[in-house]
Amino acid sequence: MSGKKLIIGNWKMNGGIGHVELAKAIIEGVNGVNAKNVDVAICPPFTLLPLIGQVVAHGKVSFGAQDCHTAASGAHTGDISAAMIAEFGAKFVLVGHSERRANHNEASALIAQKARAALDAGLVPVICVGETEAERLSGDAVPIVLSQIAASLPIDCTPEQIVIAYEPVWAIGTGRVASTQDIEEMHKAIRDSLNSKFANAQIIPLLYGGSVNAANAEQILAVNNVDGALVGGASLKAPDFMDIISAAHSIVG
Ligand code: 13P
Repeated sequence: MSGKKLIIGNWKMNGGIGHVELAKAIIEGVNGVNAKNVDVAICPPFTLLPLIGQVVAHGKVSFGAQDCHTAASGAHTGDISAAMIAEFGAKFVLVGHSERRANHNEASALIAQKARAALDAGLVPVICVGETEAERLSGDAVPIVLSQIAASLPIDCTPEQIVIAYEPVWAIGTGRVASTQDIEEMHKAIRDSLNSKFANAQIIPLLYGGSVNAANAEQILAVNNVDGALVGGASLKAPDFMDIISAAHSIVG
């Protein structure tokens, strides 16, 4: 991604009204760091999008949602459309997070439709992929992730419209991080496969996610083809999240 880093915090199903203070602390922190080559975003639960939209308007942090429906509107009780998310000024929406793939049986074809809906609403889909531990142990992690990507990308998308996040399922919330060799191998394979699809695939930000924290961020973010991080638990503590942002800053300035 041309020397820039993108750090996205995924708050998952955490955060009530009090977490607006967390967003404010992150915005204040980011405003205080002259990190022109580091982009920062937070993805709170849907319920906080309007409030977070108001507070981020005063800073350099952008925000997104954690999922969207494939349709723009209609009889889909309990769902939220990409257009509704965009209305509050959001930039991103995560699609295909492994927790949605596992807990809601979301398959890659559906993810591609969600990503298409995001693009139609003017959002940047962060398309999440990753192998399970059994798939890693079988030795097939790379082809499995590449096939997830091939099936999850919306038809006719362009490199400047999307972000891809590689999150090994077994590394999420476990404190177990993939080795830098495994991350490098996977990110290179992803880049190579995107290069065969797009003329300028090098501009697609490839994020790593899975137990990224203040202590390991610098090492992970220095890996070839790692353009940023998708951070879960550590994004819920402002000092930890700021340390990850500083690690990115120390690499790209
Ligand atoms: P953790 O950073 O808590 O492992 O979560 C990663 C993740 O799933 C981000 O989307």
